Amino acid sequence: MKTLIKNMLTETQMDRLRDARLLFKESGTARFATSAQTSGMKIASSARSLTTAYYSLLSRKFQREERAVLLGLAKYHAELQENDANVFLMRRNVHRIEKGLSMRPRRPVFAKEYILETVNVYRKVVDEPDRSDETTGDSLRWSYDVLSEYFRVVAEDPVLDHARKVFEDCPAPFPKDEQTARVPYKRDLDDHPVSYEQLEKLAIKRRSVRWFDQKPVPRELLDKAFTIAGLSPSACNRQPFRFLVFDDPKMIETVSSLPGGTIGWKHQIPVMIAIIGSLDAFYSEKDRHVIYIDGALAAMSFSYALETLGLSSCICNWPDIESHEKRGAKVLGLAGYERPVMFLAVGYPEPDAMVAYSQKRPLEVMRTYNPPINTT
Ligand SMILES: Cc1cc2nc3c(=O)[nH]c(=O)nc-3n(C[C@H](O)[C@H](O)[C@H](O)COP(=O)(O)O)c2cc1C
Repeated sequence: MKTLIKNMLTETQMDRLRDARLLFKESGTARFATSAQTSGMKIASSARSLTTAYYSLLSRKFQREERAVLLGLAKYHAELQENDANVFLMRRNVHRIEKGLSMRPRRPVFAKEYILETVNVYRKVVDEPDRSDETTGDSLRWSYDVLSEYFRVVAEDPVLDHARKVFEDCPAPFPKDEQTARVPYKRDLDDHPVSYEQLEKLAIKRRSVRWFDQKPVPRELLDKAFTIAGLSPSACNRQPFRFLVFDDPKMIETVSSLPGGTIGWKHQIPVMIAIIGSLDAFYSEKDRHVIYIDGALAAMSFSYALETLGLSSCICNWPDIESHEKRGAKVLGLAGYERPVMFLAVGYPEPDAMVAYSQKRPLEVMRTYNPPINTT
């Protein structure tokens, strides 16, 4: 509809229409409509059942997200039963085993509830790595090392013994190497790679940069920054995201128009990145927010890494707007269970361009020690 009107009217007519719309917002009629809407929201939010009715009958704003979550769950659970191996599941369980191995005191029998599930998914990845979405052997090597260590230390138990047999019947994917085994270890606490002052300087220097030098960004630098992003924490070490990187000018033209927040500066973005979250990493709806949390943590590490390499970035928001979602999924070829978490514009900062001051909130407002809690 918007595009139709845009095509029919001249620039000046469009400007007048925009002005009229803005002024209408100040009118009594518009204020009445807004207050009626607010009252509706107040009523709908006053009870759970009314909220459900509101989002089922009056607003469908959550519908597409619900479908994406359900498609992810369906894929996850189908893979448990079928031959495809869900590497997210493998990583989660191996992570839980690592926690068990590091537990103080360590229990002689642990991970009993999920060890069979773990060795089964491990076996599927060993048998058919191509069907597991895992192109590098890193997760497999880690799983192999951790499971080897697990079966070395746990006590005898019928369930564990059965799992041990499944594990030992699998051909070892790598030669065993005690020296480089990827298992829980003690960190070197005497090593302080970065001082607080250095990190503070970096945090102050990083600002959202929207104006870039028109020179290519070497992929080696981007890959260095992605390496740092990949070291970020993620819930149960599932790492349920991937980065789609566009440095081809024609493709950037299309991709930079997907998020709305690039208007006015998208024409000079040298690299555009989409962070895509995978909802098939989770067995339950309760984890539906994790793609955004994990994706954002990786994005933050990525931005800092870029700054250390002389590059800058600006995050571009991906609000849940149905028309954007449809177009984004089509352009990027996303599966129904995948969602953009955010986009990032990246490039060398243009030396004369300004950045916003962006005042941060004071420490005293941002944090509270021991706020009152209710222990009853
Ligand atoms: C989730 C998120 C979405 C953002 N979306 C946009 C956007 O669409 N367009 C834009 O110009 N800036 C965007 N930004 C940048 C913010 O405006 C910026 O981070 C904020 O004003 C603070 O400035 P600073 O990053 O320089 O500290 C976004 C930032 C975040 C974290």
